[in-house]
Amino acid sequence: MTKNTHLNVTESWLNPENLSSSSQPDDPLGIDEVDHVEFLVGNARQACHYYCSAFGFSPIAYRGPETGYRDAASYVINQNKVYFVLTTPLRPNHPYAARISTHGDSVKSIALRVTSCEHFYYQTMKNGAVSAEIPTLLSDENGEVKRAAIQTYGDTEHTIIERTGYSGAFLPGFVEYDEIFPSFPKIGDEVGLLRVDHIVGNVELGSMNRWVDYYERVLEFQQMTHFSDEDISTEYSALMSKVMRNGNNKIKFPINEPAQGKRKSQIEEYLDFHCGPGVQHVALLTGDIIHTVRALRSRGVQFLEVPRTYYDDLDKRIGKIAESFDAIAELGILADRDDDGYLLQLFTKPVQDRPTVFFEVIQRKGSQGFGVGNFKALFEAIEREQAKRGNL
Ligand code: FE2
Repeated sequence: MTKNTHLNVTESWLNPENLSSSSQPDDPLGIDEVDHVEFLVGNARQACHYYCSAFGFSPIAYRGPETGYRDAASYVINQNKVYFVLTTPLRPNHPYAARISTHGDSVKSIALRVTSCEHFYYQTMKNGAVSAEIPTLLSDENGEVKRAAIQTYGDTEHTIIERTGYSGAFLPGFVEYDEIFPSFPKIGDEVGLLRVDHIVGNVELGSMNRWVDYYERVLEFQQMTHFSDEDISTEYSALMSKVMRNGNNKIKFPINEPAQGKRKSQIEEYLDFHCGPGVQHVALLTGDIIHTVRALRSRGVQFLEVPRTYYDDLDKRIGKIAESFDAIAELGILADRDDDGYLLQLFTKPVQDRPTVFFEVIQRKGSQGFGVGNFKALFEAIEREQAKRGNL
């Protein structure tokens, strides 16, 4: 089957002088929220099946040879407000092939939805951004989307999406998934993942502050929290982290760097196997973590295991919570409390053979933190996994 989607592309049509004040009042650059996260993977068709069967996503859109796009295949999957794009190159000389060879399956882009692509792109260029794609107008019979991209840590990019009024499946050039794969069975119900809560980047020793400065200066973010190596250390390894947030607080990007310890930090292990900086984990918000984690476990998602002793006096450490402590212990969920409330969270093991990208499931009950009280138990769990891999 061949689908022609009448994709039109117009590059560099935007006027750099037109820095209109069309941004939202609460974010200086008009960033609304994360639009989608794009992963480069070795086999997008199988990755699509994995995320749908294990994590409860549904495939909604596709672009590939069947739609007239001959270089790569991309599958768009969705659950509530979470959109992932899984892309694989089809030939060895495609630039993505070298990237996958270097990094393994990894995040290519954290796409940000903005009110004005033009305003965002030219203001960040003024602020010192490195361009990854000049502003481009994409259109098909369903409307128009404006897109640009800037570079961030490692080979990671921020794609910029302005999609006012676009009514197609995803972006111009994509078609509805069912048009190409009409017999794809519905594998399971969604598991209650609502939206991206935060996305964490790992950068090299000594470069965290450079990227903190980049987000402050170029994307006009603010620093929200700082965790020192004393907050985040075990007997063997340590890391430091600073959390950046945008003007409307919907986007939170913690940035980690390794710190000196007796043995190899989990961040160093990531940097070794990812061959450079990149996204370490994507945290997905749920409104009912007991339901979500039970469903994910039943579908074979593997989580980091904390020792049973973690639960011995959890009720004393955390105080009263709405959830059953028995269910929390049974499912291996972690809890933390701060002045604003509490949160419940859990981390998957890496979702590919390289010990790189993983996911967090998080439910917030007032707390806007990141679970600092769990860092030690969590990192000891990670170190047990590192030791099994011979990397500690
Ligand atoms: Fe996290």
